[in-house]
Amino acid sequence: MKTSIALIGFMGTGKTVVGKLLAGKLGKEFLELDAIIEKKAGKSIPEIFRQDGEIGFRELEIEATGEVAIKKNTVIACGGGIVLNKINIDRLRKECVIVCLTASPQVIIKRTSGDTDERPLLAVPDRARQIEELLKFREPFYERSADIMINTSRISADSVVERIMEKLKENES
Ligand code: S3P
Repeated sequence: MKTSIALIGFMGTGKTVVGKLLAGKLGKEFLELDAIIEKKAGKSIPEIFRQDGEIGFRELEIEATGEVAIKKNTVIACGGGIVLNKINIDRLRKECVIVCLTASPQVIIKRTSGDTDERPLLAVPDRARQIEELLKFREPFYERSADIMINTSRISADSVVERIMEKLKENES
């Protein structure tokens, strides 16, 4: 049986907040992939993008995913672009149930409004358009990768956690 959970989904869908709560409820270790990447690289995500480009970041993401994907009893909050490289999902799938959090473009625009310094892909003049375009491109990747999908647009993080736990039970039986 799979003992870990990988949370995937676009930026601003709540992976980190929900991941921490879920890990607490399930008594599992919480891991955030972006934090692991920053530690390995010795620099922040925006610095990695600036110095090594998105391609450099994706290479680090693949390496870090390979390391965490083998761990048991963890809740892993992945970066929004994890689905772009199939090898990441293939590796995660071995130990993890993959839960995708979704939200409407409007909600994502609102939730990410103060964070453009931390999210290089959103540091563009027309953030709303960038979000809509990235979402449109990535949607099929998220759908293809997920075992469970939860729309977080209108519900609290606690309710998202409850729904994930219900779905995990359904999945088990
Ligand atoms: C990215 C999402 C970010 C981070 C990086 C790239 C993406 O993580 O990995 O900025 O491609 O969507 P969050 O989804 O946690 O913001």
